[in-house]
Amino acid sequence: MLIFFGGFRKMKKQDVFKRDSWSSGFGFIMSAAGSAVGLGNIWKFPYVCGTSGGAVFLIFYVLFALLLGYPILLAELAVGRHGKTNAADCCERIKKGWGFIGILGAVSAFCVLSYYSVVGGWIIKYFLSCLFTGVPESSFFESYTGRTFEPLLWQFVFILMTFLIVAKGVSSGIEKVSSVLLPLLFVFLAGLMIYSLSLPDAWEGVKFFIMPRFEGAKLSSVIVSALGQVFFSLSLGMGTLITYGSYLSRENSLPKSTGIIVLLDTLAAVISGLVILPAVFSFGLEPDKGAGLIFSTLTEVFGSIGGGRIAGTLFFLLVLFASVTSAISLLEMASSLLSDKLSLSKVSSAAVTSVVVFLTGIPISLSLGILSDVTLLGMSLFDLPVFISDNITLPLGGFFLCILAGTIWGRKNFDEEITAGGRHSSPFSGTVSFILRYAAPCLILLITFLPLLIR
Ligand code: PHE
Repeated sequence: MLIFFGGFRKMKKQDVFKRDSWSSGFGFIMSAAGSAVGLGNIWKFPYVCGTSGGAVFLIFYVLFALLLGYPILLAELAVGRHGKTNAADCCERIKKGWGFIGILGAVSAFCVLSYYSVVGGWIIKYFLSCLFTGVPESSFFESYTGRTFEPLLWQFVFILMTFLIVAKGVSSGIEKVSSVLLPLLFVFLAGLMIYSLSLPDAWEGVKFFIMPRFEGAKLSSVIVSALGQVFFSLSLGMGTLITYGSYLSRENSLPKSTGIIVLLDTLAAVISGLVILPAVFSFGLEPDKGAGLIFSTLTEVFGSIGGGRIAGTLFFLLVLFASVTSAISLLEMASSLLSDKLSLSKVSSAAVTSVVVFLTGIPISLSLGILSDVTLLGMSLFDLPVFISDNITLPLGGFFLCILAGTIWGRKNFDEEITAGGRHSSPFSGTVSFILRYAAPCLILLITFLPLLIR
């Protein structure tokens, strides 16, 4: 996740403590879009799309992003702007006792971080390999992740970097750098997409991505994956966007900003799909390879172009940057619970959380090597935290938020907040209210429990 706090640039320190607003609407949109765009779009979207049948997954993904992602994101921002404080207290302000949504957010952040850091370690390794020895072979992913100690070392380095940035309190500096790096990442991805589309047999990949074949598709599991991916990619159900909203002024049109954020995040995912899937087919790889898909595919791509080593080094550096900044907010969110409940300082709770995240990440990393035969609840140790966060805790966070914003807060108050007292138009407000009140809670519950029913 790249965070754009560009909007804070003109603010003085005391303004932040007064919870002043973002200095520009653009700064806010770039910050929130940057928060959403990350490993979820570049690493996860193409591989989940590949294992979930391609175009059928894409259709449900786009549908859920519009029908559930948009209203829930809007609700998170509105609850934040209304409460003007941290996620849990914003929820408390609407209804006493509902601060538990923040606790659920901390649990989600912990689960996400435990496997995010494993993938972050892989990114460091690929960056260093491109820099010092050359673009690795496509088969390198299996041999590397099958090793016992080295992946743990880079995973540790990834968590340490994240912790040091949080402990030194320099996140805001990093966030300013991000405002340059996210557009650069977009430009890079667009360039790679054009190259991938020009490869021989690229059309096979495009067909796989956009032309649905329903026969043989396991619809129920595709639907479950698409919903989980929407929550993960848009950073929903965790409370981060409530915090973003808490810095917004009523000048900002929430319905419009939300639309742009959803659009940019979806665009980033689709572009990544169009980078990876055409190349997969062109190089004769399998789209359902799983978590290693972008690594084995991109190394083929970088290995086949002139200057590919420089391009690969820069690309993995950009993705590393995106993942560290994402991990920063995940660590802050995950450790907030410890500092609140145990009255620990911010640094000590981040340190304790980092250690526990690292220890939890060890079996997750080893599940691609010596623990590959171990399964829990029918899932590999890598898939388990992905499932728990994407399919249980994040959607549940979203579910309770829908009840809070859609039913408890009430349509009148909700509309008042999103239109800022009638200042901004909200063309879909009737539909959004209906979705938050009825459709989204029902759909989320149904889809969350679907895997348990069909198991
Ligand atoms: N949305 C981020 C990504 O795409 C991941 C994330 C999920 C960040 C949940 C915060 C909360 O990489």
